[in-house]
Amino acid sequence: MKRSLLKAVLVFVGFLQVSFALDFSGIHGLIQRRLPQHTEYFTFGQLPGSGDRYIIGDTEGITGGITISCTSLSACSRGLYVYLTDFGNVDIWWTGSRLDQLELPPLPVGTPVSGEAIVPFRYHFNTVTFGYTTAFWDFDKWSLLLDWLALRGVNIPLAWIGYEHILIEVYREVGLSDAEIADFMSGPAFLPWNRFGNIQTSWGGDLPMQWVEDQFFLGKQIVGRMAELGMTPVLPAFTGFVPRAFASHFPNASVVNGSQWIPTFDFKRTNDSFLEPFDLMFSAMQKSFLQKQKDAFGNVSHIYTLDQYNENLPFSGNLTYLHDVSSGTFASLRAVDPQAVWMMQGWLFFLQADFWTNDRIESYLSGVEGNDTMIILDLYSENQPQWNRTNNYFGKQWVWCHLHGLGGTMGLEGNLEELTNGPIDALRSPGSSMKGMGSTMEGQEGNELVYDALLDQAWSSEPLDIPDYVDNWTVRRYLDREVPSAAREAWQILSSTVYNNTDPDVPAVMKGILEFRPALTGLYNLTSLIPTMIPYHTNSTLIPEYRYDVLSVARQLLSNRFNDLYLDLVTQFNSSSTSPKDISTRGSRMINLLKDLDRLLYTNENFLFSTWIADALQWAGSNSSYATYLEYNARNQLTLWGPDGEINDYASKQWAGLVGEYYVKRWEMFLDYLVDLKGSGESYNDTVIAQQLLDFGKAWDVERWGNGEDETFGTRGDTLQVASEVLNIWG
Ligand SMILES: *[C@@H]1O[C@H](CO)[C@@H](O)[C@H](O)[C@H]1NC(C)=O
Ligand SMILES: *[C@@H]1O[C@H](CO)[C@@H](O)[C@H](O)[C@H]1NC(C)=O
Ligand SMILES: *[C@@H]1O[C@H](CO)[C@@H](O)[C@H](O)[C@H]1NC(C)=O
Ligand SMILES: *[C@@H]1O[C@H](CO)[C@@H](O)[C@H](O)[C@H]1NC(C)=O
Ligand SMILES: *[C@@H]1O[C@H](CO)[C@@H](O)[C@H](O)[C@H]1NC(C)=O
Ligand SMILES: *[C@@H]1O[C@H](CO)[C@@H](O)[C@H](O)[C@H]1NC(C)=O
Ligand SMILES: *[C@@H]1O[C@H](CO)[C@@H](O)[C@H](O)[C@H]1NC(C)=O
Ligand SMILES: *[C@@H]1O[C@H](CO)[C@@H](O)[C@H](O)[C@H]1NC(C)=O
Ligand SMILES: *[C@@H]1O[C@H](CO)[C@@H](O)[C@H](O)[C@H]1NC(C)=O
Ligand SMILES: *[C@@H]1O[C@H](CO)[C@@H](O)[C@H](O)[C@H]1NC(C)=O
Ligand SMILES: *[C@@H]1O[C@H](CO)[C@@H](O)[C@H](O)[C@H]1NC(C)=O
Ligand SMILES: *[C@@H]1O[C@H](CO)[C@@H](O)[C@H](O)[C@H]1NC(C)=O
Repeated sequence: MKRSLLKAVLVFVGFLQVSFALDFSGIHGLIQRRLPQHTEYFTFGQLPGSGDRYIIGDTEGITGGITISCTSLSACSRGLYVYLTDFGNVDIWWTGSRLDQLELPPLPVGTPVSGEAIVPFRYHFNTVTFGYTTAFWDFDKWSLLLDWLALRGVNIPLAWIGYEHILIEVYREVGLSDAEIADFMSGPAFLPWNRFGNIQTSWGGDLPMQWVEDQFFLGKQIVGRMAELGMTPVLPAFTGFVPRAFASHFPNASVVNGSQWIPTFDFKRTNDSFLEPFDLMFSAMQKSFLQKQKDAFGNVSHIYTLDQYNENLPFSGNLTYLHDVSSGTFASLRAVDPQAVWMMQGWLFFLQADFWTNDRIESYLSGVEGNDTMIILDLYSENQPQWNRTNNYFGKQWVWCHLHGLGGTMGLEGNLEELTNGPIDALRSPGSSMKGMGSTMEGQEGNELVYDALLDQAWSSEPLDIPDYVDNWTVRRYLDREVPSAAREAWQILSSTVYNNTDPDVPAVMKGILEFRPALTGLYNLTSLIPTMIPYHTNSTLIPEYRYDVLSVARQLLSNRFNDLYLDLVTQFNSSSTSPKDISTRGSRMINLLKDLDRLLYTNENFLFSTWIADALQWAGSNSSYATYLEYNARNQLTLWGPDGEINDYASKQWAGLVGEYYVKRWEMFLDYLVDLKGSGESYNDTVIAQQLLDFGKAWDVERWGNGEDETFGTRGDTLQVASEVLNIWG
């Protein structure tokens, strides 16, 4: 009797541990990776209760010992982060981890410090970030970003990697041939838009199975790491997009042609076939997909990312139809996972607001019963919020998202006031169903300050004090409480100018004219933000972040200066008194500037075109035809974006090599053309020069990096020296 009671108690205690005990091994793993000499100093413990709360204090009896207690793993990671940044003055950056610079033994906390998340969800990624930023990343690069996310308290990151492996299995299972499937899949640099049903087929060759398998392996590593760090990966699901041949295999299935994405893509490459979710085959394929995914990735998440109309229009605007599509979709998820939550990007409601009237949105969302059943990413909250016109998405949970930039282009830009006040106002507004905050940048490029501010705001119920926040951030970025006052002042100037962009005409990161396909009109004043910051010269440092920032600012100044030169060129060209010589003199100046920019970019590993290429090539090993294929994908996305320049220059970058070997060459061709016209008296014809530049682009995309004289894979030159030289000329 006594024995069985004891046994029952033990079973009960065991149950409690199994069900509720947090497993801190993932956070210890992070400490092992980033602070190997500090492993003994940190202890973690569990707090009762729900939500995301932490308390940081000194460990009794251990000099330098720090104890962090929390209600969730994410809160413990966040607690560790607060200790490292506020007390240790070290941080982890996109440019690298400096956590190993933490003092030994760690400084005491004194009075315990506590914190709590103001929203249950902290989100990161856009489906297309997996194209513009991480397309070719290996696990080391991922590992750095995952630690960055975990420490900042992100708890629901998106996890697309490896999707195609399972999707292809599902297609095969229903009887599609490999050739039919291959006809649908897009190349490695373009998969996000294939996943969205925007595009289909691959240019430059079919998607290799080796890519699919390597990514599947990588995906398992990523999802495993996310789970270990206490983050719930948002996993994909079957969307309904199917290869074109599907309809002929299943003539009775409800398949419709989706809409055309971008007008320059022809029917063959867009208008993806869509199996309607109320068809029984949809639920069968969903079931197969989700089961396979669970077998591969484990029981790690109930949140599914699923977008059917991101930049695509539904087949019909009939309210019943829209309701049936979403209810069929959701039923297919719940049939497999009774706790399934559907996440979708809300971009369509902004971009295609004409179609998505409130009654249509309401019908579509009402197909999913309940409010905790969906998470809608209000994708562009900082400029074009939709939650306020949709009555908080009619009660569904939604996330305040910072879109920030398109195509991963590089400009110093941000709006700190909006990032700090916007989410707090939305959260406090009557009837708010806002449940999260996060970033949905198309590409993650520079401007780390604004990403930090938003994620830090998610743990502060009052808007952050910006000058104070920026000052703290600067000091830890340069690892030095004695950081030169010029640097602190510079960041204050940046935060009230570049990072206080409230100009409605510049609603996101801008790009430099130099990256555009040269033309006489249509380039200038598409963007208008002009940084006023005076770059600071100081010898304080070898800190990588400092060099990165000096380069970033110098890069922006050069880019802006190019715009002035361009405008002058256009004015001169249009004036009848200008000689060919005048044009070529001006042209030389523009080319010199671009070459100086290229030289500057070459000094830092974070600004190299060759890194993008090397990342792509690593997946090919010694297989040279595969390498050629991947390099074409990598080049084409940055330049022509499509076999014939369908979305020319959309994902342009100011990267060393790309500037020197692509933009310089294009502007040279363009300038030669103008000089010739001035000589011959013929008039400017944009079609003629555009065709030449397109031909150049096509030829350039199939080249291989490293064949040209100056084409190296490493950095060259010293940032501070080159920055000072080029600023003397152009500053
Ligand atoms: C499609 O439906 C028609 C009419 O209901 C039926 O005769 C035919 O057998 C079906 N075909 C398939 C492949 O199920
Ligand atoms: C999709 O469009 C193609 C080309 O116009 C057409 O042949 C096909 O029948 C359409 N499919 C459906 C299901 O409407
Ligand atoms: C492709 O989609 C567009 C709408 O975006 C539509 O007008 C066109 O008819 C579609 N093409 C085919 C062949 O279905
Ligand atoms: C797996 O998920 C189900 C719900 O789908 C849940 O009930 C179960 O406890 C989970 N199993 C484990 C081992 O976490
Ligand atoms: C919408 O579709 C439903 C079901 O097919 C139909 O009964 C209804 O008449 C349609 N409504 C309109 C406005 O076309
Ligand atoms: C929603 O908020 C934005 C930004 O403040 C504003 O421009 C827009 O007019 C608001 N829409 C509605 C319907 O209130
Ligand atoms: C969802 O939210 C809406 C708006 O607040 C509310 O009217 C509705 O009752 C909620 N639904 C459920 C199932 O709680
Ligand atoms: C800046 O750092 C100080 C010292 O750690 C802290 O008290 C203050 O709250 C921080 N300010 C902000 C806005 O984070
Ligand atoms: C940002 O700009 C707004 C208006 O443009 C201004 O009111 C505010 O003071 C600025 N903030 C800072 C920190 O300069
Ligand atoms: C650029 O836009 C600004 C602000 O609208 C305007 O004042 C300026 O004249 C424009 N410049 C050119 C060259 O179009
Ligand atoms: C910076 O350089 C100046 C002049 O060369 C020197 O006097 C000063 O000590 C240096 N400061 C630091 C922090 O190295
Ligand atoms: C420009 O060149 C294109 C292609 O050569 C030609 O079709 C077009 O007529 C020309 N336009 C003008 C205005 O001359």
